[in-house]
Amino acid sequence: MARIAGGISTSHIPAIGGAIAKGLQQDAYWKPFFEAFPPVRSWLKEVRPDVAIIVYNDHGLNFFLDKLPTFAIGAAPSYGSSDEGWGIPTIPPVRGAPELSWAIIEGVVAEEFDVTTCQEMLIDHAATVPLQLLWPEGNPPVAIVPVAVNTVQHPLPSPKRCLALGRAIHRAVAAYPVDLNVVVISTGGLSHQLDGQRAGFINPEFDRLCLDALVADPERLTGYSVADIVELSGTQGVEILNWIVARGILGAQVRERHRTYHIPISNTAAAVQVLQPEGLKNS
Ligand code: DHB
Ligand code: FE
Repeated sequence: MARIAGGISTSHIPAIGGAIAKGLQQDAYWKPFFEAFPPVRSWLKEVRPDVAIIVYNDHGLNFFLDKLPTFAIGAAPSYGSSDEGWGIPTIPPVRGAPELSWAIIEGVVAEEFDVTTCQEMLIDHAATVPLQLLWPEGNPPVAIVPVAVNTVQHPLPSPKRCLALGRAIHRAVAAYPVDLNVVVISTGGLSHQLDGQRAGFINPEFDRLCLDALVADPERLTGYSVADIVELSGTQGVEILNWIVARGILGAQVRERHRTYHIPISNTAAAVQVLQPEGLKNS
């Protein structure tokens, strides 16, 4: 049976891709962010995942405002990447896991989630930057299942719906009859607002509340509406929805293995969190 080994959530700021390209990891500005990753990579070496489910939001590369699915799941044999305008490097195509993708799609549709299925899909900085952070040597040793959440054009799915989708994905993975180690990578957030009167808005208090709730009480986040999150976390802070889906995928109880919180990288409160389902080895 497939086994969910844990989850890594990280901010996905495009400038990180630029810093990697320029080798600025030890630069004073970048060091506090990049320092989060050696322990996360050691954890990944313990876990040795076969597949990564990547919960992220597309930023106008694969879907634009004319057609924007609320939830889209990739079922492609491979995923190319492209730069949607930041001037950062792309990465070589990443292997897909179409059989697992279809099992997840079948599972969530049977639970009445109406998802868009993508047999061709490009990934943007929200997937490529985290993959580069986790496997800096290139060629991630995992196949991926991208799950794209609309955090861009309102109406967005509620935190409650996102947690429920994650839980449905959890059940589909747990029922998948192939021996696979699966990790969940979610990306985006935490608080940030890129434009408008509150550009630069960051809310460390709410970010900490979210990080704590993701460990011990994810239901707490379902008490917020999308409008509440925009107010508390900024217009792009709603990318926390990706983290909430991921938390649902991890199952009932988790233990926090790692947390880094650093303000700011570019315009964003940059956070990294590793959660591991309770009762698993690798402790
Ligand atoms: C930034 C953050 C994002 O989440 C994003 O998608 C683009 C830019 C930033 O802080 O620069
Ligand atoms: Fe973003």
